[in-house]
Amino acid sequence: MTTGTSHTWDANLYATHAAFVPALGAPVLELLAPQPGERILDLGCGDGVLTAKLVAAGATVVGIDPDKAMVAAALEKGIDARLGDARQLGFDQEFDAVFSNAALHWVGAPALVTAGVARALKPGGRYVGEFGGHGNIAAIRVALRAVLAARGYRTDPQETSYYPTAEGFRAVLEAGGFQIESCAIIPRPTPIPSGMTAWLNTFRGGFIDSAGVPPAKRAQVIEDVRALLRPVLADEGGNWIADYVRIRFAATLSA
Ligand SMILES: C[S@@+](CC[C@H](N)C(=O)[O-])C[C@H]1O[C@@H](n2cnc3c(N)ncnc32)[C@H](O)[C@@H]1O
Repeated sequence: MTTGTSHTWDANLYATHAAFVPALGAPVLELLAPQPGERILDLGCGDGVLTAKLVAAGATVVGIDPDKAMVAAALEKGIDARLGDARQLGFDQEFDAVFSNAALHWVGAPALVTAGVARALKPGGRYVGEFGGHGNIAAIRVALRAVLAARGYRTDPQETSYYPTAEGFRAVLEAGGFQIESCAIIPRPTPIPSGMTAWLNTFRGGFIDSAGVPPAKRAQVIEDVRALLRPVLADEGGNWIADYVRIRFAATLSA
C-alpha cells in the first residue's frame, strides 16, 4: 500500500522492532483522556496496540489505516479497523474525538487532513495527537541521504515526511477552525532496543527502495548508514538512542 511516503509496513517487523512506538504513546493518550461511551477515530491506527487502550478505556473506536497488513493485525486484536487514508476522510460529525499517534508525519497534506478531521468531529470535538516534529531523527535522515548520494542513488531534494514546527502546525490547525489547547515540540531521545539495522529496515525500507536501491544492495547501504551513525547515536555501551523529536497537540473544534 502506498502512503504519503510510499512505505509498506510489515506488521511482524513492526510488532518485533517498533513496540516502543505505541508504548511511548502513553502521554498523548493521557492528554486525550478518553471517556467511556465516547466515539473516537484513530488516524493511522497501525496494528492497533494503542487503539486497544482507547477501547479498554470504554470508548467506541474506529481505526483507519491504508496499510492492509496493519489493518489485518488490528482486526485480529478485535479493533474496528478499516482501510482508509487520513487525506480522504468521509466521516460527517460522528466523533467526539479524533486521535493519532506516530502517523501524521507519514501522511503529509496537513490542511487536507485537518479539514477531514473537522468534518468528522461533532461540534466542540477534540483533536489530539503526537507525531514527528521539526528536527525529528535529523542525524538518521542526513546519514541516509549522504550514503545514498555517495553511492549514486536518487534522493528527493525535498523532505518526504511532514515534520512541522509548533508554530507551523498551530497555523494549520487554526486555519482549519480549531482552537489550540496545547501544541509543543518535545525532544525525546528514544532507545532503539533492536538496533539501527532493524530500525532502518522497519522504518526506512520504502525510502531506500524509492531511491532505486536494488534489494540485493539494501544491506550494504544500511550497514554504511549504521557505521556513520554509530559514533553519534550509540552510547558508551553500544546501545542505540535515536534523536526523536515529537510534536504533541490538543485542539478543540470551534463551535
Ligand atoms: C509508526 S505507525 C503508528 C501506528 C500506531 N498509531 C502506533 O502508535 O503504533 C504509522 C502508521 O501510519 C499509517 N499511515 C501512513 N500513511 C497514512 C495515511 N495516508 N492515512 C492514514 N494512516 C497512514 C501507516 O500505515 C502506519 O500504520
